[in-house]
Amino acid sequence: MTRDVRVYPDAHALARAVARALVEVLGTAGAAADRCCSVVLAGGNTPRILYGLLGSVYRDAIPWEHVHVYWGDERCVPPDDPRSNFRLAKEAWLDRIAIPLENVHPMPTDLPDADAAARRYEATMRARFPAQWPVFDLALLGIGTDAHTASLFPGSPALDETTRWVVATRAPGEPHARLTLTLPVLNHAARVWFLVAGADKAPALRRIFADVSAPARAAAGIPPAAAVGPHDGTLTWWVDAAAASLLSPRARGE
Ligand code: 6PG
Repeated sequence: MTRDVRVYPDAHALARAVARALVEVLGTAGAAADRCCSVVLAGGNTPRILYGLLGSVYRDAIPWEHVHVYWGDERCVPPDDPRSNFRLAKEAWLDRIAIPLENVHPMPTDLPDADAAARRYEATMRARFPAQWPVFDLALLGIGTDAHTASLFPGSPALDETTRWVVATRAPGEPHARLTLTLPVLNHAARVWFLVAGADKAPALRRIFADVSAPARAAAGIPPAAAVGPHDGTLTWWVDAAAASLLSPRARGE
């Protein structure tokens, strides 16, 4: 399997490359189709540098009024909680650009019932995507050291979801629930970009890239991030050298 893997010296070089590419994609997609673009934002800490660039160096590079932002997952905590994925993007980026409030679609974390929150977010998405599945122009994702992505964790029933767009779930050991987009939604995106940085992600990346036979994978359980493969879209791995350090030259695309 040939993958589109792009390796950069460090997390800052990685973020700069992704920012340039994102501006190119959103600028081209929006202008060419004269329509709004829709982007799924990654959570966690890895995108912090990227969001900071989009809120500073590139703040005026895109007609943000043509861009709608959604989240790939969220922790069911208040929006001003340090653990909130919404807060990360808001403070580093969205508060610094001229994006209409109605274009920003955070996952609802104010409902006591996480399943009801998941269904509400799906309704929000369906209002903009009337088709059977949403087709995002771009979905940004990270991976955990356990090879999870979004909030799709190893062994989670959420990995087997085939009809719902958003489900409630939990991360091992966390007191709060989470909301996550499901694999069918991610796999209908036009572009999926994984952003992976840091030596602690190297073992997970090696597992995700392992060319293991289907039976072996079935037995061991496919790493969640390895289940992401857009049906009609493209998949790009944006990785820093530390995270790529356990990959073979072939896996690194050399
Ligand atoms: C989350 C994320 C999750 C994240 C990875 C990597 O809410 O935690 O959506 O999937 O992308 O856990 O997190 P870091 O970037 O902090 O390593």
